[in-house]
Amino acid sequence: MRVIVTRQIPERGIEVLQQAGYEVSIWPGTLPPTREELVEFAKGAVGALTLLTERIDAEVLDSLPSLKVVSNMAVGFDNIDVEACTARGVIVCITPDVLTETTADFTWALILSVARRVCEAAAAVHKGQWRTWEPLGFLGRDVAGATLGIVGLGRIGQAVARRASGFGMRIVYTDRARQPREIEEQLRATFLPLDELLTESDIVTLHVPLTPETRKLIGARELARMKPGALLINTARGAVVDTDALVAALRDRRLWGAGLDVTDPEPLPADHPLLRCPNVIVTPHIASASEVTRARMAELAAQNLVAALRGERPPRSLNWDEVHRKG
Ligand code: DGY
Repeated sequence: MRVIVTRQIPERGIEVLQQAGYEVSIWPGTLPPTREELVEFAKGAVGALTLLTERIDAEVLDSLPSLKVVSNMAVGFDNIDVEACTARGVIVCITPDVLTETTADFTWALILSVARRVCEAAAAVHKGQWRTWEPLGFLGRDVAGATLGIVGLGRIGQAVARRASGFGMRIVYTDRARQPREIEEQLRATFLPLDELLTESDIVTLHVPLTPETRKLIGARELARMKPGALLINTARGAVVDTDALVAALRDRRLWGAGLDVTDPEPLPADHPLLRCPNVIVTPHIASASEVTRARMAELAAQNLVAALRGERPPRSLNWDEVHRKG
């Protein structure tokens, strides 16, 4: 039985698939397969270990009738039409938990880098512009004691909040529903509706999945509500923010800056106006990219795939119960 992997992934994931006895075809390109290439490559395969760069929708599924499992090496799954998969009896799996701490670390790397203008200052040194100690050089914003607004207090949002306690910050959060009281108390996090969170926070950090409800959640109206001089950090999905509105807010210097590990579009072309805005740090969707975490993600994605193909409940599936209820 053949399974496909849509890019080279950490070796541990491939080992798990091979040890389970599958013939493993790995997409050879460094760039993702196009839609047509994906369908051609996956013909006859029973399982696909996919990445967030592959769009798996009804049309793709209908071209691949032998496909039984799609295992995404990501916690996000906006690239997969889960409903279409369920309707066709295809199991969908993801890799939550294993990347939580690494993604929270990177969120903090962006917070501190934007607040203290780390990239701008380092670039000046590389360009030979460090002439003396300057009382007015590269003045930044203080993080300690600031108010941190967390949009989406799920696993990653909570891990970001835990780190904030060391900075003596006030933590406010918003979410579809309030977290249980123990979690709010543990994190010393206060629930606020989004509009209030935006007006009260010095730093707003986004940790929601991309869904029809969260697409462009942060648009011109929301950016206008943010405190003058606030920071916006996004390690969730680019389309949660309206990019044009963000460019306008940064150009007008209404915001202090933005740290974006995810963008819309993604990848961001080198001549995109966002990259000409003051104090923006854009990184290429690497928040989960530590050696250990990417290996864990690959391993979990492979374990999910193997279990589901064996007819066993996978460690992390989105629709196992629904597919089995349908019979
Ligand atoms: C995810 O897992 O959804 C991230 O965006 C990539 O690690």
